[in-house]
Amino acid sequence: MEINPKQFSKLADLVYEEAGIRLTDQKYELLKSRLAKRLRKTGYTLTRDYIDFIGRDRDEFNRFIDAITTNHTFFFRENAHCEYIINNISSSDFLKIWCAACSSGEEPYSAALQLADNNYRLSINATDLSDTMLEKARKAIFPMERVSHVPAHMLRRYFQKGSNRYEGHVKVKKEIRDLVQFGRFNLITDAMNDRFDIIFCRNVMIYFDAATRQKTVDTLVQSLKPGGILFTGMSESLNGIRHPLKQVMSSAYRKI
Ligand SMILES: C[S@@+](CC[C@H](N)C(=O)[O-])C[C@H]1O[C@@H](n2cnc3c(N)ncnc32)[C@H](O)[C@@H]1O
Repeated sequence: MEINPKQFSKLADLVYEEAGIRLTDQKYELLKSRLAKRLRKTGYTLTRDYIDFIGRDRDEFNRFIDAITTNHTFFFRENAHCEYIINNISSSDFLKIWCAACSSGEEPYSAALQLADNNYRLSINATDLSDTMLEKARKAIFPMERVSHVPAHMLRRYFQKGSNRYEGHVKVKKEIRDLVQFGRFNLITDAMNDRFDIIFCRNVMIYFDAATRQKTVDTLVQSLKPGGILFTGMSESLNGIRHPLKQVMSSAYRKI
């Protein structure tokens, strides 16, 4: 299976327009291997025919975007941010949280269970571009190795052990699942009409170019209540981006 330069640039444009992710020429091999899998699954042999197909079939188009994006995540990733909330934000007020780009749910569940454990009242609106990831997130079933960073007492309290076909897996308990609502939200094209005390938008802007990062930060800032805090990924900074936020710790910014 081959991708000619015209097809590469067509596919790269589709990914950029939909997800804000710029596929440079260096990503040719990555695109080729992930596209090959979609071609095998859909029974196409020619890139040209597959491009026509995703132009007609929205579900396959979404699966193609899914195949290109990176969904890597794990429980308690970059947990200093949750610790910051627990150490600096009073548990007396209800916390409305948006977890943008939540992937398969480990990030919002990690926040929900730690905050619940510290007597916060909260709700989390957890969103992602990928329907496949959102489906996994709603199921809330994870292999044991994915929860290796969860402290033992929280694992016992907030997860159920699976049996039979779910041997070696755990499920997040209902009391935590009920704190998190999942929905599809594209950071590039969708508008958020709600306001939040806390927003996590971590490890996604790293894939965006400067213009897309600026647009995303504008959306996030607009969706923060005054005094609210935006957490970005630890390796993402808002350097070079216009914003009215004050940095309070590494990758954490308060709206004044
Ligand atoms: C690497 S994961 C990060 C997951 C989690 N935030 C974390 O830090 O562990 C990136 C996620 O961003 C999502 N994503 C990519 N482009 C997006 C967009 N334009 N709008 C919303 N989500 C997007 C992907 O589907 C993926 O699940």
